[in-house]
Amino acid sequence: MPAAGHAPPVRDPHPRFQITRAGTAAAGTLPPAIPRGTSGARSGRSGKRKPVTRPNGELYWPRKLAGGTDIEVLRRLRAAQMPVLLYGPPGTGKTAMVEASFPDLLTIAGTGDTVVEDFVGNYVPLPDGGYEYVYGPLVVAMREGRPLLVDDATLIPPRVLSVLYPAMDGRRKIHLTAYRNEPVEAIDGFYVIAGHNPGVHGAVLTEALASRFGVHIEVTTDWDLARRLRVDTRAVAAAIDLNKELVAGTVTWAPQLRELLGFARLHKTLSLATAVSNLAGRAPDHDREAVIKALATHFGTTVTALSLGPQH
Ligand SMILES: Nc1ncnc2c1ncn2[C@@H]1O[C@H](COP(=O)(O)OP(=O)(O)O)[C@@H](O)[C@H]1O
Ligand SMILES: [Mg+2]
Repeated sequence: MPAAGHAPPVRDPHPRFQITRAGTAAAGTLPPAIPRGTSGARSGRSGKRKPVTRPNGELYWPRKLAGGTDIEVLRRLRAAQMPVLLYGPPGTGKTAMVEASFPDLLTIAGTGDTVVEDFVGNYVPLPDGGYEYVYGPLVVAMREGRPLLVDDATLIPPRVLSVLYPAMDGRRKIHLTAYRNEPVEAIDGFYVIAGHNPGVHGAVLTEALASRFGVHIEVTTDWDLARRLRVDTRAVAAAIDLNKELVAGTVTWAPQLRELLGFARLHKTLSLATAVSNLAGRAPDHDREAVIKALATHFGTTVTALSLGPQH
């Protein structure tokens, strides 16, 4: 609705939140009841795990968690309205896990510049010169009973993130102060999941945030899965060593599933040597020596970062 006259200046015509393809595809629909069977993560009695197709078409292989699979656990926690905080280095599968669990997901990608309007919505200019209030993903998730993933939540300034709390607390209600104080109530199915990387510069895990999310799950790379997805076992072994160094604090970066899958693709497309050099080149400068050493140890060759040579 046009709201000319009392519209605040629009700071950014391109809202920074991202509605995932999951969200777009499922827009306007109610969340499914806790899915069982067909899209579930197990195949009958054998207990063998089957992949789940994510909204972007990629396959997600469920992982073991708390006596079940990660997907089953997230769906059960949603039904019980117990918010989850997923933490771990980038590339370990946090986003993929949530997308595979909830086809009706909406996502906000957090940064240090995320503002309250990225959650609740904002006035956007209309072609005729007026303004219209467009609801943000928090409002849509509450009213449609959908899950909301707040990714990289600890990069978001704490006072901005606090817009979430009344929606998650017993009240499950917020007011849009910028839009006639309109009340927004959450219906069944509304659920908040947060993702964060504790190692990243500028991340602040406040007590307010930690305490709202009663379940904290660490997500690390699943090495068996990497091997099953045809990543060369020597690359996996080098990544395992480097992740031990990461835990010990002697490096700040180590390859995770994302880099290993990239490795496998490059191996297939170009060559093994190129994939090894490229992985070395992906390491930040100050960790490159350690990464080259781990790769050289496991591949038994000298390794240099991928670079253009002199004219052929
Ligand atoms: N269980 C899984 N099965 C298949 N692919 C996975 C799985 N977990 C992660 N991936 C893949 O690994 C990559 C990194 O996952 P992502 O969810 O983006 O990591 P994060 O959110 O932790 O940074 C993606 O390409 C994703 O498709
Ligand atoms: Mg992610």
